[in-house]
Amino acid sequence: MMKGEGRKERWIKHYSSSHRILLVGEGDFSFSACLAKVFGYAKNMVATSYDSQDMLWEKHWSSEAHLEELKQRGCLVLHDIDVNDMHKHPILKTIKFDRIVFNFPHAGHFPGFCERHTYLIKMHKELVMAFFKSAGEMLSEGGEVHLSHRDDYPYNKWKVEKLAKRADLHLIERAEFFKSDYTGYHNKRGGGIKSNQTFPLKDFFTFTFKFSLVECSCHEETGSSKSDQEEAGSSESDIEDLCELLPVVLRF
Ligand SMILES: C[S@@+](CC[C@H](N)C(=O)[O-])C[C@H]1O[C@@H](n2cnc3c(N)ncnc32)[C@H](O)[C@@H]1O
Repeated sequence: MMKGEGRKERWIKHYSSSHRILLVGEGDFSFSACLAKVFGYAKNMVATSYDSQDMLWEKHWSSEAHLEELKQRGCLVLHDIDVNDMHKHPILKTIKFDRIVFNFPHAGHFPGFCERHTYLIKMHKELVMAFFKSAGEMLSEGGEVHLSHRDDYPYNKWKVEKLAKRADLHLIERAEFFKSDYTGYHNKRGGGIKSNQTFPLKDFFTFTFKFSLVECSCHEETGSSKSDQEEAGSSESDIEDLCELLPVVLRF
């Protein structure tokens, strides 16, 4: 994988054409395509979706042009990449990345579960925890993990900083996320019948994490640990939450 040798370095926000960049959980690949356009090429990037290629066509018709753009600029595009085990992927496990980026992780939309529901919060936390753990296996020395996320209630209940610490990753920056910084980027819901729809970006931030220089003593297992379950289910406002009373129909 190339790092942009021999070319003039170009930057867009936190990202440079000389970084090796892994993007995970892409929607219609418009974020990756935006970076590639600014860099002028994309041989330094691997852009991935959780969805298979067939599912991607179904969910995000708008991905076609972005995928074409990425391929033309030399980006490696992979589908079916799950943040739970991406570090074991035959290609990905051979590369160390300077930036690993997950914009607006979301564990899915389920009828009867609103975003305040403790069960959904637990699923989101498990997803983010898995991302941190797997990303930690793939970072270059001094590399950074970037998570863009909403930081108001109930999304702040995910406590992403705490989850990162349990993967020995420490918050070094929390910068407001402005969509206008990324020309052509369309953030996508990614799930349910409205998967290709966008959602309003309010109170959104890019959290940057790095390995700590000091030994961290909090090596617990994934987000499903007792402490997380308690955390996700402890608030009185949650217990009173109307969404808890909605009929629950789980469709997997
Ligand atoms: C709210 S969408 C955001 C999509 C895209 N990052 C964007 O900014 O438009 C959440 C994304 O998380 C992805 N996702 C959910 N579970 C995942 C997993 N286990 N591994 C990788 N991605 C996952 C979904 O496929 C979906 O595209």
